[in-house]
Amino acid sequence: MKRTILFVDDEPNILMGLKRMLRPMRDKWEMLFAGSGPEALAIMAAQHVDAVVSDMRMPGMDGPQLLRRVMQEHPDTIRFALSGYSDQEMVEQSIAPTHQYLTKPCDERQLVSALEMAMNARELVPNKAVLDKIARVEHLPVLPEIYNRITAELAKGEPSPKEIGDMVAQDVGMSANILKLVNSAYFGLPRHIAAPQQAVIVLGVNVIRSVILSLHVFQSFEHMGRASFSLPMLWGHSMRTGAMARTIAQHESLPKEEVDHAYIAALLHDVGKLIMEAHCADECVRIYEVVRAENRRVAEVEAEQLGLTHAEVGAYLLGLWGLPPQVVHAVARHHDPLPKPGALGAADLVHFANLLDHEIFVFNEHYAKATPTPERLDAIGGPERYADWRKHVLIMGLGSEDK
Ligand SMILES: [Fe+2]
Ligand SMILES: [Fe+2]
Repeated sequence: MKRTILFVDDEPNILMGLKRMLRPMRDKWEMLFAGSGPEALAIMAAQHVDAVVSDMRMPGMDGPQLLRRVMQEHPDTIRFALSGYSDQEMVEQSIAPTHQYLTKPCDERQLVSALEMAMNARELVPNKAVLDKIARVEHLPVLPEIYNRITAELAKGEPSPKEIGDMVAQDVGMSANILKLVNSAYFGLPRHIAAPQQAVIVLGVNVIRSVILSLHVFQSFEHMGRASFSLPMLWGHSMRTGAMARTIAQHESLPKEEVDHAYIAALLHDVGKLIMEAHCADECVRIYEVVRAENRRVAEVEAEQLGLTHAEVGAYLLGLWGLPPQVVHAVARHHDPLPKPGALGAADLVHFANLLDHEIFVFNEHYAKATPTPERLDAIGGPERYADWRKHVLIMGLGSEDK
């Protein structure tokens, strides 16, 4: 089925340009164009739209106002802002209602892939009824502003680590948290990191960006009234799983990009648990009761009771946010990676790092024991390899309690 995308801009030239640029997508997308916010809302009242891409600066109803209305009236429509470089302030205002920002001029490849990825994110979740509940995106955490700024810098070219570090340093609270984290045992760095600029040089932009993202996501849920599980424990588990996936990937001499993907996915693999807890609190209480009473795995009980798992919900959010497809896939399949003979993918690394952490740390004796299935062990070449990873992770000090 064709997907419908609505582009909104008050400048006819921009709409013409988009129309021309996106002509190759005609077979896959139905593209609609509106010259103002009210015109866009009228179109949306008459037909279903999968994604809206709106300009920010428009006379009358501006971009943030339009996207807010879309969020309220059509919560399942994906909302992108396409803004000029000078519209930073306006972009910041629209933080709540926007899934992703793209900066003008935006090339075809970037625009198409960002839209396709966000629309595909919905397909990851099998139970549409529960998804609709979760997709009331006003409650979903939004990308932190500093993350958007770094992403915009990366899209422009290759920024120096110092430039990125300077941006991070402007957010005093965030830099303090980053420094605390990178100097903790989770990173096992040989020397103390004193400044964000240095953290970017030592760990790389992608690692710092994902650390920002996970700190932000966990902070957004810090005030969650009640939780079926312990938030600090989930944070520790996520940090350790990230560190373990990175250690294993490096031990296996994977290319830097793949090491980064595995790390980012492992760090964020359980964000779906936070989202589900925030939106389906009663269902979660029931699910964790069954998990503890019957010694079962969380994902298994979630699938049975809700028809979806935290893995899919987390992947959905990361897909909307435009994280790389390898990361989104690895999060979606972290309990059940697809067997791909030969190559070790991010999904395998997250899967095994997650199991190792559960095996080394027993969170709750009433949870089912975490052991890899014989099929999964076969897929990585046998139990020896898993044992080798376990040894390696322990040598790195990742299993020690004093974090
Ligand atoms: Fe999980
Ligand atoms: Fe996990």
